[in-house]
Parts: sequence; C-alpha cells; structure tokens
Amino acid sequence: MSSAITFIGMDLGTFRTSAVSSNGHQEELETVVGWPKDHIAESLLGKKVVFGSEVIDNRMSLDYVRPFGHGVLKFNSHTERGMDENLVEKHRKAARLLVEQVVSLVEPNRQGPIYGVVGMPSRATLVNKEMVIEATRGAFDAVMLVPEPFAVAYSANRLTETLVVDIGAGTIDLCPMFGTFPNDDDQLTIPFGGDQVDEELYNCIVEAWPDARISKKMVREIKEKHGFVGPSEDRVIVSLPVKGKPTEIDITEPLKHACGKLLPPIIECVVELVARFEPEFQDCLLNNILLGGGGSQLKGLPDQLEIALQAYGGGNVRRTHDSVFAGATGALKLAMGMPLEYWSKLDQSKALGKLQPAADQ
Ligand SMILES: Nc1ncnc2c1ncn2[C@@H]1O[C@H](COP(=O)(O)OP(=O)(O)OP(=O)(O)O)[C@@H](O)[C@H]1O
Ligand SMILES: [Mg+2]
Repeated sequence: MSSAITFIGMDLGTFRTSAVSSNGHQEELETVVGWPKDHIAESLLGKKVVFGSEVIDNRMSLDYVRPFGHGVLKFNSHTERGMDENLVEKHRKAARLLVEQVVSLVEPNRQGPIYGVVGMPSRATLVNKEMVIEATRGAFDAVMLVPEPFAVAYSANRLTETLVVDIGAGTIDLCPMFGTFPNDDDQLTIPFGGDQVDEELYNCIVEAWPDARISKKMVREIKEKHGFVGPSEDRVIVSLPVKGKPTEIDITEPLKHACGKLLPPIIECVVELVARFEPEFQDCLLNNILLGGGGSQLKGLPDQLEIALQAYGGGNVRRTHDSVFAGATGALKLAMGMPLEYWSKLDQSKALGKLQPAADQ
C-alpha cells in the first residue's frame, strides 16, 4: 500500500463530525459552521469562517448553520422541509467547508491522493447521497459512502449475527449484520434522535418554569450529564436562572419523560426488522444488539431495551467501546481494506462513489 495515500474514515454527523486518518490523527468537531455577521465580528474573531464549538460560543456575532440539522441534506428532502434554494445552497456550502476543515485537521499528506469512507444514514436517498458526495468532492480524491451502523459494526469486528443500532442526533439507524454488505431493504432509519429529545425537554422545562432562562445548549448538556431511561434512584436538581436569580429546580420528571421518547421507536423498529428474518436468525440478532452513537450513552438504555425485548424472547444489548469515534474508525478500516484498484478507478473517473461492498470489487 503506497504511503503517499492518506485514507480517512469520517462520520459526518448531524451533531458531531469525527474523522480518523491512516496517519494516526483523529479529530472531532461539532457540525456547525458560522460566518461573522459584519466587519467588527470578523476582526474580533480574526477569521472569515468559524467551525464547531467556537461557533456556539460566539453565536451572537455569527450567522451560522448546522448543515445536516433536522436530517436536511443527509436524510430528509429539503423541499419537504420547506427550505428555499438559497438556504439549501447555504447548507451545501457549510457542509463543503466543514468537510474541508475536518480533513485538514487530520493532516493528510497533500502530495498524494486522499481517499475517504463516509458514514450515511441507513436509508438515505440517492439525492441525499449525491449531496454528501458533493460536499466531500473538494476535500477527497475519491469517496465511498457506507451506512453509519455498518461502519460501527466494522470497527467493533461485529460483522456477523449482530444488530447495530446507531443513535445519533438526527436519526436512529438500524442495520443487521450477516457477514456481508447489508441490503438497503434490510436496514431502517428512524427520523428521530437526540435533537428531538432536547426539543421535548426544552419545551417541558419552559412550560413548567416559564420564567426560567435556558438555552438549547444547556438543555443538551443537562441531558448528557443526567439523562436516563427507566427507574431513577436520585432526583435530578439543576440550578437555572429564574427571573434573574439562580434557582434550584427538580427536573427529574421532565428528563425522564423526554429521554423516554427514545425507547418506543427503537423497540418498535428492532422488532419490525428482526421479524423479517427466519426464526434462528431472529434469536441471533436479538441476542447481539450493539448500540452506537452518542445516544447510546444514555443511562439505563441497554437495560430498558433488554427488559422490553423480554416479551419477544429476550435480548442482549451492549454499547460500543467508543461512541464518538467508532463510526469513523470503522470507516477508516473499510477504506484501508479496499483494493487499491477500486480507489484508483474512482479517483480517475471522478465518478460518484457508489454504495458498494468491498467484497464486490
Ligand atoms: N451521555 C449522553 N446521554 C444522552 N445523550 C447523549 C450523551 N452523549 C451524547 N448524547 C447525544 O448524542 C447525540 C449525538 O450523537 P452522535 O454524535 O452519534 O450524533 P450524530 O452522528 O452527529 O448524528 P446523526 O448520526 O443522527 O447524524 C446528541 O443528541 C447528544 O446530545
Ligand atoms: Mg451519527
């Protein structure tokens, strides 16, 4: 394998983008891009484009977008979401800039080609795939797209008899692994994720304490720190400014309610997907469920899923070793495992990377 080539595995997430490169670098960045609103903001920030958490910290002086927010570009149809062409173009531009930024952070060898494998929602449409290819075109010499949970399974070496459930911010993706590249029809994408949990929690808090001042970022941080499903032994008390005064409020119930919204769609889709296979394969899948993505870190989630699956013959649910980099690591492993001719062919033709198994090459 030529040392001049840099391979990159990338998990281009709605909330977070992570990348791992064959030269040993790994980086992660919040998937958000901002432009200074005026010259004052630009000279204060000292840059024309800002990425990641720096955007959120300086959001008052920036015009910013989450290029894949609400599943736009990656999963949903932007026309269905009522976005006009200018806004779509802004998202596309932000996606391009973000991919370029993440690629430069992992310091590829610019003398040689850069080949990447990028994770997508399981049931992304062809249009979505083309949009992501478009976003990556400038930063990579060739790109292949794979379903996000497939990349997670690859990183964990769980290529057979495993059901991967990747719980992200925008979507939950389910992919059964049977030792081969998964068919589109065997996978499921649920248009629900951590973002909707945050929204639910935000609405519950605002409704119960209308005078409390709370941002979406604070809500997400509360959920990540204290969120749980199932029974809780401790009350969750947080301090929020109410009418300008720091006040302790008990958010145990709203938190339980909002986080609990994740369970029913996961259970429903696990059951629906497993039922498509013959009985002995159903048992294998139910007893090897691997949770990935940031949402997998929610306290009590594996236990509650196991309890719910008892009605279907039981289940065994575990989390991935690394909820942030598992997808990118698996994608890199895939990139490096592909025959070089595959990459050269893609590179020379500059054709769209097709969702194809390494085994087919
Ligand atoms: N400890 C935690 N408990 C609950 N949720 C968490 C925790 N840590 C992270 N999350 C949530 O996980 C989500 C981010 O996960 P991830 O980075 O896998 O998403 P993504 O890949 O950006 O999204 P998608 O795959 O939908 O495009 C966010 O909603 C975040 O709040
Ligand atoms: Mg993801």
